[in-house]
Amino acid sequence: MEQDTIGLMNELKQRAGNAVTDSMVKSGMKLGLGTGSTAVYAVRRIGELLAQGVLRDICAFATSFQTEIECEKQNIPFFNLNSRELSSGLDLTIDGADEVDNKNNLIKGGGGALLIEKIAAYASLKYAIVIDESKLTQRLGSGFPVPVEVVPAARVQVTRVLEKYGANVILREATRKAGPVITEHGNIILDIHLGTEFHGSSVTPSLMETELNQIPGVVENGFFTKNPPVVYIARSNGTVETRLAE
Ligand code: A5P
Repeated sequence: MEQDTIGLMNELKQRAGNAVTDSMVKSGMKLGLGTGSTAVYAVRRIGELLAQGVLRDICAFATSFQTEIECEKQNIPFFNLNSRELSSGLDLTIDGADEVDNKNNLIKGGGGALLIEKIAAYASLKYAIVIDESKLTQRLGSGFPVPVEVVPAARVQVTRVLEKYGANVILREATRKAGPVITEHGNIILDIHLGTEFHGSSVTPSLMETELNQIPGVVENGFFTKNPPVVYIARSNGTVETRLAE
């Protein structure tokens, strides 16, 4: 991607991150903080507002090492989800997404953090997604593969089952390390390109989310359909649109 395009994309991501923070984050909240190049702008904005004293008493839960490190940089206090501070659940989780359909169903996991991102999303009263408009799609899985986190010992068997469903399965390879990506939980990721069987008219993303998790060895998958979010969409005309689930 050209430098100018990267700069423009980052500007859009920042607009979405600032908008969600300014309108939804309140003092005293227990916050789930997502992973990726868009969610990071919300984390930075929260840090900024804490430093200015506009926000206080925030307890955060970071969904990945990347987000923990950003919280450290921003002086945002973060806790384990089992800690007393967060045991009653989260008020709001803010995260990015790889694809969003017009019912606000999502594909997530491009950064490999889907397992903890889903735990945070489903432990949250409110859920907000920040994207630039390039993430919008008519049909989930048409442009972006669905990541499936799998225990390493089940790699071949899970691949076999997915291929029987007509999916094209790619083991996610690491960069600057030989071999596959190993998640923060010691698992591998299979990126699946869905075949026509998956896209049959009766197969909804919600059903796919449930079904994929029935395969022994699958830890979690990248469909997020069970806690419909409000989506903040940064448009290239400079506006940020807020879209509620239908
Ligand atoms: C991390 O595993 C993902 O779910 C991210 O939230 C998703 O890939 C969006 O990331 P970007 O905002 O960097 O595109």
